[in-house]
Amino acid sequence: MRILFVASEAYPLIKTGGLADVAGALPVALAEAGEDVRLLLPAYPDALDRLKDKERGAHLGDPIGVGEVKLINGRLPGGDGPGGDGPGNGVPVSLVHCPPLYDRPGNPYLGPDGRDWPDNHLRFGLLSRVAAMLGVSSETGMARPDIIHANDWQTGLVPAYLRHWGGPIPATVFTVHNLAYQGRFPGETIGPLGLPRAYMSMHGLEFNGDLSFLKAGLYYSDRITTVSPTYAHEIQTDGEGQGFQGLLRARDKDLVGILNGEDDRIWDPAHDPDIHHPFSSARLSGKALDKSDLQREMGLEERAGFMLFGVISRFAEQKGIDLVLEAVSDIVANGGQVAMLGSGEPALEEACRVAARSHPGRVAVRVGFDESLAHRMQAGCDSLLMPSRFEPCGLSQLYALRYGTLPVVRHTGGLADTVVDAGDRENGTGFVFWDPNIAEFQGALHRAMALYRQPGLWQEMQRRAMGQDFSWRRAAEGYRRLYRGLI
Ligand code: ADP
Ligand code: GLC
Repeated sequence: MRILFVASEAYPLIKTGGLADVAGALPVALAEAGEDVRLLLPAYPDALDRLKDKERGAHLGDPIGVGEVKLINGRLPGGDGPGGDGPGNGVPVSLVHCPPLYDRPGNPYLGPDGRDWPDNHLRFGLLSRVAAMLGVSSETGMARPDIIHANDWQTGLVPAYLRHWGGPIPATVFTVHNLAYQGRFPGETIGPLGLPRAYMSMHGLEFNGDLSFLKAGLYYSDRITTVSPTYAHEIQTDGEGQGFQGLLRARDKDLVGILNGEDDRIWDPAHDPDIHHPFSSARLSGKALDKSDLQREMGLEERAGFMLFGVISRFAEQKGIDLVLEAVSDIVANGGQVAMLGSGEPALEEACRVAARSHPGRVAVRVGFDESLAHRMQAGCDSLLMPSRFEPCGLSQLYALRYGTLPVVRHTGGLADTVVDAGDRENGTGFVFWDPNIAEFQGALHRAMALYRQPGLWQEMQRRAMGQDFSWRRAAEGYRRLYRGLI
Protein backbone atom coordinates (compact mmCIF):
# COMPACT_ATOMS: atom_id res chain seq x y z
CA MET A 1 0.00 0.00 0.00
CA ARG A 2 1.12 3.53 -0.70
CA ILE A 3 0.71 5.73 2.37
CA LEU A 4 1.23 9.46 2.76
CA PHE A 5 1.79 10.23 6.45
CA VAL A 6 1.25 13.93 7.25
CA ALA A 7 2.28 15.56 10.52
CA SER A 8 3.48 18.88 11.90
CA GLU A 9 6.56 17.36 13.60
CA ALA A 10 8.68 14.20 13.30
CA TYR A 11 11.81 13.19 15.20
CA PRO A 12 14.66 13.81 14.41
CA LEU A 13 13.66 16.57 11.97
CA ILE A 14 11.76 18.63 14.54
CA LYS A 15 10.22 17.77 17.92
CA THR A 16 8.19 19.40 20.67
CA GLY A 17 6.57 16.27 22.12
CA GLY A 18 5.27 12.77 21.60
CA LEU A 19 3.73 13.44 18.18
CA ALA A 20 7.25 13.80 16.80
CA ASP A 21 8.26 10.46 18.30
CA VAL A 22 5.27 8.80 16.65
CA ALA A 23 5.74 10.45 13.25
CA GLY A 24 9.45 9.58 13.33
CA ALA A 25 8.87 5.92 14.19
CA LEU A 26 5.53 4.65 12.86
CA PRO A 27 6.37 5.37 9.19
CA VAL A 28 9.66 3.50 9.69
CA ALA A 29 7.83 0.51 11.18
CA LEU A 30 5.34 0.58 8.29
CA ALA A 31 8.20 0.70 5.78
CA GLU A 32 9.90 -2.20 7.54
CA ALA A 33 6.65 -4.15 7.20
CA GLY A 34 6.87 -3.61 3.45
CA GLU A 35 4.62 -0.58 2.93
CA ASP A 36 5.49 2.29 0.64
CA VAL A 37 5.39 5.28 3.01
CA ARG A 38 6.20 8.94 2.53
CA LEU A 39 6.21 11.54 5.28
CA LEU A 40 5.00 15.11 4.62
CA LEU A 41 5.99 18.00 6.91
CA PRO A 42 6.43 21.78 6.64
CA ALA A 43 9.94 22.89 5.66
CA TYR A 44 10.87 24.48 8.99
CA PRO A 45 14.55 25.55 9.05
CA ASP A 46 15.55 22.70 11.43
CA ALA A 47 13.75 20.11 9.32
CA LEU A 48 15.47 21.38 6.16
CA ASP A 49 18.87 21.24 7.85
CA ARG A 50 18.40 17.71 9.10
CA LEU A 51 16.78 16.17 6.02
CA LYS A 52 19.05 13.63 4.30
CA ASP A 53 19.67 13.41 0.54
CA LYS A 54 17.81 16.63 -0.24
CA GLU A 55 16.64 17.29 -3.77
CA ARG A 56 14.18 19.62 -5.45
CA GLY A 57 10.67 18.30 -5.97
CA ALA A 58 7.56 19.53 -7.73
CA HIS A 59 6.46 23.17 -7.99
CA LEU A 60 2.93 23.52 -6.70
CA GLY A 61 2.19 27.15 -7.64
CA ASP A 62 0.62 29.43 -5.05
CA PRO A 63 -2.36 27.44 -3.74
CA ILE A 64 -3.45 29.81 -0.93
CA GLY A 65 -2.05 33.14 -2.10
CA VAL A 66 0.87 33.52 0.28
CA GLY A 67 3.73 32.70 -2.07
CA GLU A 68 5.14 30.00 -4.32
CA VAL A 69 5.16 26.51 -2.87
CA LYS A 70 7.44 23.69 -3.83
CA LEU A 71 8.42 20.34 -2.42
CA ILE A 72 11.85 19.45 -1.17
CA ASN A 73 12.29 15.71 -1.15
CA GLY A 74 14.74 13.68 0.90
CA ARG A 75 14.97 10.97 3.51
CA LEU A 76 14.55 10.66 7.24
CA PRO A 77 17.89 10.50 9.06
CA GLY A 78 18.55 7.28 10.94
CA GLY A 79 18.13 6.12 14.48
CA ASP A 80 21.30 7.34 16.13
CA GLY A 81 20.27 10.92 16.57
CA PRO A 82 20.06 13.72 14.02
CA GLY A 83 22.14 12.91 10.97
CA GLY A 84 22.70 9.38 12.22
CA ASP A 85 22.71 6.34 10.06
CA GLY A 86 21.10 3.84 12.37
CA PRO A 87 18.82 1.06 11.21
CA GLY A 88 15.44 1.87 9.75
CA ASN A 89 16.48 5.22 8.39
CA GLY A 90 15.73 6.42 4.93
CA VAL A 91 11.95 6.71 4.81
CA PRO A 92 11.14 9.20 2.00
CA VAL A 93 10.17 12.66 3.22
CA SER A 94 8.73 15.66 1.39
CA LEU A 95 8.93 19.07 2.99
CA VAL A 96 6.47 21.78 1.98
CA HIS A 97 8.68 24.75 1.15
CA CYS A 98 6.99 28.13 1.50
CA PRO A 99 9.40 30.55 3.21
CA PRO A 100 6.83 33.27 4.08
CA LEU A 101 5.04 30.69 6.26
CA TYR A 102 7.70 28.34 7.54
CA ASP A 103 11.07 30.06 7.45
CA ARG A 104 10.91 31.08 11.10
CA PRO A 105 13.20 30.07 13.93
CA GLY A 106 12.30 28.00 16.96
CA ASN A 107 9.05 26.33 17.88
CA PRO A 108 6.77 25.18 15.04
CA TYR A 109 3.61 26.51 16.68
CA LEU A 110 4.65 29.50 18.79
CA GLY A 111 6.39 32.78 18.09
CA PRO A 112 9.20 34.15 20.30
CA ASP A 113 6.53 35.81 22.50
CA GLY A 114 5.21 32.35 23.43
CA ARG A 115 1.92 32.92 21.56
CA ASP A 116 0.60 30.96 18.60
CA TRP A 117 1.83 32.32 15.26
CA PRO A 118 -1.05 34.52 14.12
CA ASP A 119 -1.19 32.84 10.71
CA ASN A 120 -1.25 29.23 11.96
CA HIS A 121 -4.47 28.65 10.00
CA LEU A 122 -2.54 29.40 6.80
CA ARG A 123 0.59 27.54 7.87
CA PHE A 124 -1.25 24.32 8.64
CA GLY A 125 -4.00 24.94 6.10
CA LEU A 126 -1.27 24.86 3.46
CA LEU A 127 0.24 21.68 4.91
CA SER A 128 -3.19 20.01 4.73
CA ARG A 129 -3.86 21.35 1.27
CA VAL A 130 -0.57 20.12 -0.14
CA ALA A 131 -1.23 16.65 1.33
CA ALA A 132 -4.62 16.63 -0.37
CA MET A 133 -3.02 17.80 -3.65
CA LEU A 134 -0.60 14.87 -3.49
CA GLY A 135 -3.65 12.68 -3.01
CA VAL A 136 -5.37 13.71 -6.22
CA SER A 137 -2.70 14.73 -8.69
CA SER A 138 0.07 12.71 -10.23
CA GLU A 139 1.58 15.89 -11.71
CA THR A 140 3.63 16.24 -8.54
CA GLY A 141 6.02 13.60 -9.84
CA MET A 142 4.88 11.14 -7.20
CA ALA A 143 2.50 8.24 -7.48
CA ARG A 144 -0.82 8.93 -5.77
CA PRO A 145 -1.22 7.40 -2.30
CA ASP A 146 -3.90 4.84 -1.46
CA ILE A 147 -4.14 6.22 2.06
CA ILE A 148 -3.47 9.62 3.56
CA HIS A 149 -2.82 9.31 7.28
CA ALA A 150 -3.22 12.70 8.95
CA ASN A 151 -2.33 13.56 12.55
CA ASP A 152 -3.83 16.09 14.96
CA TRP A 153 -5.48 19.42 14.16
CA GLN A 154 -2.65 20.72 12.01
CA THR A 155 -3.62 18.21 9.33
CA GLY A 156 -7.36 18.12 10.00
CA LEU A 157 -8.30 19.88 6.76
CA VAL A 158 -6.84 17.11 4.55
CA PRO A 159 -10.10 15.13 4.30
CA ALA A 160 -12.14 18.35 3.98
CA TYR A 161 -10.17 19.40 0.87
CA LEU A 162 -10.49 15.93 -0.60
CA ARG A 163 -14.23 15.87 0.00
CA HIS A 164 -14.56 19.32 -1.57
CA TRP A 165 -12.58 18.42 -4.69
CA GLY A 166 -14.21 15.01 -5.12
CA GLY A 167 -13.27 12.52 -7.84
CA PRO A 168 -11.13 9.48 -7.17
CA ILE A 169 -9.56 10.28 -3.84
CA PRO A 170 -7.43 8.31 -1.39
CA ALA A 171 -8.93 6.95 1.82
CA THR A 172 -8.18 9.03 4.92
CA VAL A 173 -7.21 8.11 8.45
CA PHE A 174 -7.10 10.83 11.09
CA THR A 175 -5.25 10.18 14.34
CA VAL A 176 -6.06 12.19 17.44
CA HIS A 177 -2.97 12.57 19.60
CA ASN A 178 -4.61 15.16 21.81
CA LEU A 179 -8.21 16.36 21.73
CA ALA A 180 -7.32 19.45 23.78
CA TYR A 181 -5.63 21.13 20.81
CA GLN A 182 -8.46 21.96 18.47
CA GLY A 183 -7.05 24.35 15.86
CA ARG A 184 -9.81 26.93 16.31
CA PHE A 185 -9.94 30.08 14.19
CA PRO A 186 -12.56 32.70 13.33
CA GLY A 187 -15.13 31.45 10.82
CA GLU A 188 -14.09 33.96 8.16
CA THR A 189 -10.72 32.21 7.74
CA ILE A 190 -12.53 29.62 5.63
CA GLY A 191 -12.38 31.95 2.58
CA PRO A 192 -8.60 32.31 2.36
CA LEU A 193 -8.26 28.55 2.93
CA GLY A 194 -10.23 27.91 -0.25
CA LEU A 195 -13.04 25.86 1.27
CA PRO A 196 -16.72 26.60 0.60
CA ARG A 197 -18.59 28.67 3.20
CA ALA A 198 -21.24 25.98 3.33
CA TYR A 199 -18.71 23.81 5.16
CA MET A 200 -18.94 26.21 8.15
CA SER A 201 -21.84 24.28 9.63
CA MET A 202 -22.45 21.88 12.45
CA HIS A 203 -22.27 19.18 9.78
CA GLY A 204 -18.79 20.27 8.79
CA LEU A 205 -16.01 22.42 10.20
CA GLU A 206 -17.94 24.55 12.65
CA PHE A 207 -17.35 24.09 16.37
CA ASN A 208 -19.04 26.48 18.83
CA GLY A 209 -19.02 29.27 16.25
CA ASP A 210 -15.39 28.82 15.22
CA LEU A 211 -13.76 26.92 12.42
CA SER A 212 -11.97 23.94 13.97
CA PHE A 213 -9.32 22.02 12.04
CA LEU A 214 -9.68 19.18 14.55
CA LYS A 215 -13.42 18.97 13.90
CA ALA A 216 -12.69 18.77 10.16
CA GLY A 217 -10.48 15.73 10.72
CA LEU A 218 -13.04 14.09 12.99
CA TYR A 219 -15.94 14.84 10.65
CA TYR A 220 -14.56 14.16 7.18
CA SER A 221 -11.98 11.39 7.61
CA ASP A 222 -12.91 7.82 6.73
CA ARG A 223 -11.50 6.45 9.97
CA ILE A 224 -10.48 8.04 13.25
CA THR A 225 -7.83 6.54 15.46
CA THR A 226 -6.42 7.60 18.75
CA VAL A 227 -3.31 6.53 20.54
CA SER A 228 -4.61 4.18 23.23
CA PRO A 229 -7.71 2.04 23.71
CA THR A 230 -8.63 3.73 27.00
CA TYR A 231 -8.42 7.24 25.49
CA ALA A 232 -10.60 6.04 22.59
CA HIS A 233 -13.24 5.19 25.17
CA GLU A 234 -12.71 8.30 27.33
CA ILE A 235 -13.13 10.81 24.49
CA GLN A 236 -16.64 9.51 23.90
CA THR A 237 -17.68 10.48 27.43
CA ASP A 238 -19.10 13.82 28.55
CA GLY A 239 -16.26 14.26 31.03
CA GLU A 240 -13.38 13.81 28.59
CA GLY A 241 -14.83 14.53 25.14
CA GLN A 242 -14.03 18.28 25.18
CA GLY A 243 -17.26 18.97 23.32
CA PHE A 244 -16.60 16.38 20.60
CA GLN A 245 -18.11 13.43 22.48
CA GLY A 246 -21.37 13.55 20.51
CA LEU A 247 -19.61 13.44 17.16
CA LEU A 248 -17.21 10.75 18.39
CA ARG A 249 -20.04 8.63 19.72
CA ALA A 250 -21.81 8.97 16.39
CA ARG A 251 -18.62 7.77 14.69
CA ASP A 252 -17.99 4.98 17.17
CA LYS A 253 -17.77 2.31 14.46
CA ASP A 254 -15.06 4.27 12.65
CA LEU A 255 -13.02 4.98 15.80
CA VAL A 256 -10.29 2.74 17.16
CA GLY A 257 -7.54 3.13 19.77
CA ILE A 258 -4.13 1.77 18.74
CA LEU A 259 -1.52 2.00 21.46
CA ASN A 260 1.67 3.85 20.47
CA GLY A 261 4.95 2.00 20.44
CA GLU A 262 8.35 2.79 21.81
CA ASP A 263 11.30 3.28 19.47
CA ASP A 264 14.03 1.01 20.76
CA ARG A 265 16.48 2.34 18.17
CA ILE A 266 16.45 5.53 20.22
CA TRP A 267 15.39 4.48 23.71
CA ASP A 268 17.58 1.57 24.77
CA PRO A 269 19.67 1.85 27.96
CA ALA A 270 22.16 -0.71 26.64
CA HIS A 271 22.92 1.42 23.56
CA ASP A 272 22.24 5.04 24.40
CA PRO A 273 24.89 7.50 23.23
CA ASP A 274 23.59 10.12 25.71
CA ILE A 275 24.46 8.13 28.85
CA HIS A 276 27.89 7.19 30.18
CA HIS A 277 27.04 3.88 31.80
CA PRO A 278 24.95 1.53 29.68
CA PHE A 279 22.80 -0.99 31.52
CA SER A 280 20.25 -3.70 30.90
CA SER A 281 17.87 -5.82 32.96
CA ALA A 282 20.61 -8.45 33.25
CA ARG A 283 23.21 -5.85 34.31
CA LEU A 284 21.56 -3.04 36.21
CA SER A 285 24.74 -1.72 37.87
CA GLY A 286 25.29 1.05 35.29
CA LYS A 287 22.05 2.70 36.36
CA ALA A 288 23.44 3.63 39.81
CA LEU A 289 26.40 5.34 38.12
CA ASP A 290 24.07 7.19 35.75
CA LYS A 291 22.18 8.36 38.83
CA SER A 292 25.31 9.89 40.42
CA ASP A 293 26.15 11.51 37.07
CA LEU A 294 22.69 13.00 36.89
CA GLN A 295 22.71 14.22 40.49
CA ARG A 296 26.01 15.99 39.76
CA GLU A 297 24.79 17.41 36.45
CA MET A 298 21.60 18.77 38.02
CA GLY A 299 23.35 20.17 41.11
CA LEU A 300 21.65 17.68 43.44
CA GLU A 301 23.34 16.14 46.48
CA GLU A 302 25.16 13.08 45.23
CA ARG A 303 23.74 10.43 47.55
CA ALA A 304 22.76 6.97 46.38
CA GLY A 305 20.23 6.59 49.21
CA PHE A 306 18.04 9.53 48.13
CA MET A 307 15.26 8.21 45.95
CA LEU A 308 15.36 10.36 42.80
CA PHE A 309 12.05 11.20 41.10
CA GLY A 310 12.08 12.70 37.60
CA VAL A 311 9.69 14.80 35.55
CA ILE A 312 10.24 15.16 31.78
CA SER A 313 7.29 17.01 30.42
CA ARG A 314 5.58 19.84 28.72
CA PHE A 315 4.55 22.14 31.56
CA ALA A 316 0.84 22.20 30.83
CA GLU A 317 -2.34 21.77 32.85
CA GLN A 318 -2.75 18.31 31.28
CA LYS A 319 0.40 16.97 32.92
CA GLY A 320 -0.46 17.61 36.59
CA ILE A 321 2.78 19.49 37.27
CA ASP A 322 0.89 21.37 39.99
CA LEU A 323 0.44 18.06 41.83
CA VAL A 324 4.17 17.39 41.63
CA LEU A 325 4.85 20.85 43.08
CA GLU A 326 2.40 20.20 45.89
CA ALA A 327 4.13 16.91 46.69
CA VAL A 328 7.70 18.21 46.64
CA SER A 329 8.09 19.07 50.35
CA ASP A 330 6.75 15.68 51.38
CA ILE A 331 9.10 13.87 48.99
CA VAL A 332 12.06 15.81 50.40
CA ALA A 333 10.93 15.18 54.00
CA ASN A 334 10.86 11.45 53.20
CA GLY A 335 14.42 11.37 51.88
CA GLY A 336 13.68 11.94 48.21
CA GLN A 337 14.90 14.22 45.45
CA VAL A 338 13.11 15.64 42.43
CA ALA A 339 14.68 16.51 39.04
CA MET A 340 12.47 18.32 36.54
CA LEU A 341 12.99 19.01 32.85
CA GLY A 342 10.35 20.86 30.93
CA SER A 343 8.94 24.04 29.53
CA GLY A 344 5.58 25.56 28.78
CA GLU A 345 3.28 27.68 30.91
CA PRO A 346 5.38 30.50 32.40
CA ALA A 347 3.63 30.27 35.81
CA LEU A 348 4.55 26.57 36.10
CA GLU A 349 8.12 27.21 34.97
CA GLU A 350 8.45 29.86 37.69
CA ALA A 351 6.83 27.65 40.34
CA CYS A 352 9.34 24.90 39.53
CA ARG A 353 12.21 27.37 39.88
CA VAL A 354 10.84 28.46 43.26
CA ALA A 355 10.61 24.81 44.40
CA ALA A 356 14.23 24.25 43.40
CA ARG A 357 15.38 27.37 45.25
CA SER A 358 13.45 26.30 48.36
CA HIS A 359 15.08 22.85 48.43
CA PRO A 360 18.69 23.26 47.30
CA GLY A 361 20.44 19.97 46.64
CA ARG A 362 17.12 18.13 46.78
CA VAL A 363 15.06 19.66 43.97
CA ALA A 364 16.43 20.82 40.60
CA VAL A 365 14.78 22.13 37.46
CA ARG A 366 15.98 22.74 33.92
CA VAL A 367 13.58 24.89 31.95
CA GLY A 368 13.85 24.21 28.23
CA PHE A 369 13.85 21.39 25.73
CA ASP A 370 16.88 19.07 25.91
CA GLU A 371 16.60 15.71 24.17
CA SER A 372 19.95 14.47 25.46
CA LEU A 373 19.21 15.39 29.09
CA ALA A 374 15.83 13.61 28.75
CA HIS A 375 17.80 10.40 28.05
CA ARG A 376 20.14 10.95 31.01
CA MET A 377 17.14 11.58 33.25
CA GLN A 378 15.38 8.40 32.14
CA ALA A 379 18.62 6.54 32.88
CA GLY A 380 19.53 8.25 36.18
CA CYS A 381 16.18 8.63 37.95
CA ASP A 382 14.68 5.91 40.12
CA SER A 383 11.09 6.81 39.27
CA LEU A 384 9.28 9.00 36.72
CA LEU A 385 6.29 11.10 37.78
CA MET A 386 3.34 11.43 35.37
CA PRO A 387 0.29 12.48 37.38
CA SER A 388 -1.54 13.55 34.20
CA ARG A 389 -5.12 14.83 34.32
CA PHE A 390 -5.55 13.13 30.95
CA GLU A 391 -3.02 11.37 28.75
CA PRO A 392 -3.92 10.17 25.25
CA CYS A 393 -1.03 7.70 25.31
CA GLY A 394 2.12 9.06 26.89
CA LEU A 395 5.52 7.97 25.69
CA SER A 396 7.66 9.14 28.60
CA GLN A 397 6.28 6.36 30.82
CA LEU A 398 7.13 3.80 28.12
CA TYR A 399 10.72 5.04 28.03
CA ALA A 400 10.75 5.02 31.85
CA LEU A 401 9.68 1.36 31.88
CA ARG A 402 12.43 0.51 29.39
CA TYR A 403 15.01 2.28 31.63
CA GLY A 404 13.81 0.64 34.85
CA THR A 405 12.62 4.03 36.12
CA LEU A 406 9.40 2.82 37.69
CA PRO A 407 6.65 5.31 36.87
CA VAL A 408 4.08 6.84 39.20
CA VAL A 409 1.07 7.54 37.00
CA ARG A 410 -2.60 8.43 37.16
CA HIS A 411 -5.04 5.82 35.87
CA THR A 412 -6.00 7.62 32.67
CA GLY A 413 -5.68 7.11 28.90
CA GLY A 414 -2.52 5.38 27.76
CA LEU A 415 -1.06 5.45 31.28
CA ALA A 416 -3.85 3.08 32.34
CA ASP A 417 -3.06 0.83 29.37
CA THR A 418 0.70 0.59 29.94
CA VAL A 419 1.47 0.65 33.67
CA VAL A 420 0.37 -2.09 36.09
CA ASP A 421 0.20 -1.14 39.76
CA ALA A 422 2.71 -2.72 42.16
CA GLY A 423 -0.24 -4.10 44.14
CA ASP A 424 -0.28 -6.84 41.49
CA ARG A 425 2.75 -8.75 42.76
CA GLU A 426 3.10 -10.83 39.59
CA ASN A 427 2.71 -8.10 36.98
CA GLY A 428 3.33 -4.75 38.66
CA THR A 429 5.52 -2.27 36.78
CA GLY A 430 4.77 1.02 38.56
CA PHE A 431 2.47 2.90 40.91
CA VAL A 432 -1.02 3.89 39.83
CA PHE A 433 -3.45 6.27 41.51
CA TRP A 434 -6.96 7.18 40.38
CA ASP A 435 -8.21 10.62 41.35
CA PRO A 436 -6.09 13.65 40.49
CA ASN A 437 -5.76 14.92 44.03
CA ILE A 438 -2.74 15.34 46.25
CA ALA A 439 -3.81 12.76 48.84
CA GLU A 440 -4.04 9.97 46.26
CA PHE A 441 -0.86 11.03 44.50
CA GLN A 442 1.03 11.11 47.79
CA GLY A 443 -0.36 7.68 48.64
CA ALA A 444 1.20 6.32 45.45
CA LEU A 445 4.47 8.16 46.16
CA HIS A 446 4.66 6.65 49.65
CA ARG A 447 4.08 3.18 48.25
CA ALA A 448 6.89 3.79 45.74
CA MET A 449 9.25 5.02 48.49
CA ALA A 450 8.40 2.02 50.67
CA LEU A 451 9.15 -0.46 47.88
CA TYR A 452 12.37 1.36 47.01
CA ARG A 453 13.59 0.55 50.53
CA GLN A 454 13.33 -3.15 49.63
CA PRO A 455 15.98 -3.41 46.91
CA GLY A 456 15.25 -7.06 46.08
CA LEU A 457 11.60 -6.35 45.31
CA TRP A 458 12.44 -3.07 43.57
CA GLN A 459 14.90 -4.75 41.21
CA GLU A 460 12.48 -7.53 40.47
CA MET A 461 9.95 -4.93 39.37
CA GLN A 462 12.59 -3.02 37.37
CA ARG A 463 13.45 -6.17 35.44
CA ARG A 464 9.80 -6.83 34.73
CA ALA A 465 9.26 -3.25 33.54
CA MET A 466 12.33 -3.38 31.31
CA GLY A 467 11.13 -6.60 29.73
CA GLN A 468 7.79 -5.19 28.52
CA ASP A 469 7.24 -5.18 24.78
CA PHE A 470 5.76 -1.96 23.44
CA SER A 471 7.12 -2.33 19.95
CA TRP A 472 6.12 -0.21 16.97
CA ARG A 473 5.88 -3.46 15.02
CA ARG A 474 2.70 -4.35 16.91
CA ALA A 475 1.25 -0.86 16.46
CA ALA A 476 2.14 -0.83 12.75
CA GLU A 477 0.23 -4.10 12.32
CA GLY A 478 -2.85 -2.43 13.80
CA TYR A 479 -2.61 0.45 11.32
CA ARG A 480 -1.97 -1.88 8.37
CA ARG A 481 -5.10 -3.84 9.21
CA LEU A 482 -7.05 -0.58 9.34
CA TYR A 483 -5.63 0.65 6.00
CA ARG A 484 -6.37 -2.69 4.33
CA GLY A 485 -9.97 -2.45 5.42
CA LEU A 486 -10.22 0.88 3.59
CA ILE A 487 -8.91 0.01 0.13
P1 ADP B 1 3.29 14.77 25.07
O1 ADP B 1 3.35 14.38 23.65
O2 ADP B 1 1.92 15.02 25.58
O3 ADP B 1 4.19 15.93 25.38
P2 ADP B 1 4.51 12.16 25.59
O4 ADP B 1 4.82 11.47 26.86
O5 ADP B 1 3.74 11.41 24.58
O6 ADP B 1 3.80 13.54 25.96
O7 ADP B 1 5.84 12.57 24.82
C1 ADP B 1 6.74 13.50 25.35
C2 ADP B 1 8.00 13.42 24.54
O8 ADP B 1 8.64 14.67 24.61
C3 ADP B 1 9.00 12.40 25.07
O9 ADP B 1 9.83 11.98 24.01
C4 ADP B 1 9.79 13.24 26.09
O10 ADP B 1 11.07 12.71 26.32
C5 ADP B 1 9.86 14.54 25.34
N1 ADP B 1 10.01 15.75 26.16
C6 ADP B 1 9.04 16.42 26.83
N2 ADP B 1 9.54 17.52 27.41
C7 ADP B 1 10.84 17.55 27.10
C8 ADP B 1 11.91 18.45 27.39
N3 ADP B 1 11.72 19.54 28.10
N4 ADP B 1 13.13 18.18 26.89
C9 ADP B 1 13.33 17.06 26.14
N5 ADP B 1 12.38 16.17 25.85
C10 ADP B 1 11.15 16.42 26.30
C1 GLC C 1 0.10 13.80 22.49
C2 GLC C 1 -0.37 13.26 23.82
C3 GLC C 1 0.46 12.11 24.33
C4 GLC C 1 0.79 11.13 23.23
C5 GLC C 1 1.43 11.85 22.07
C6 GLC C 1 1.80 10.93 20.93
O1 GLC C 1 1.02 14.81 22.61
O2 GLC C 1 -0.45 14.29 24.80
O3 GLC C 1 -0.23 11.45 25.37
O4 GLC C 1 1.66 10.13 23.71
O5 GLC C 1 0.56 12.81 21.57
O6 GLC C 1 0.69 10.22 20.43
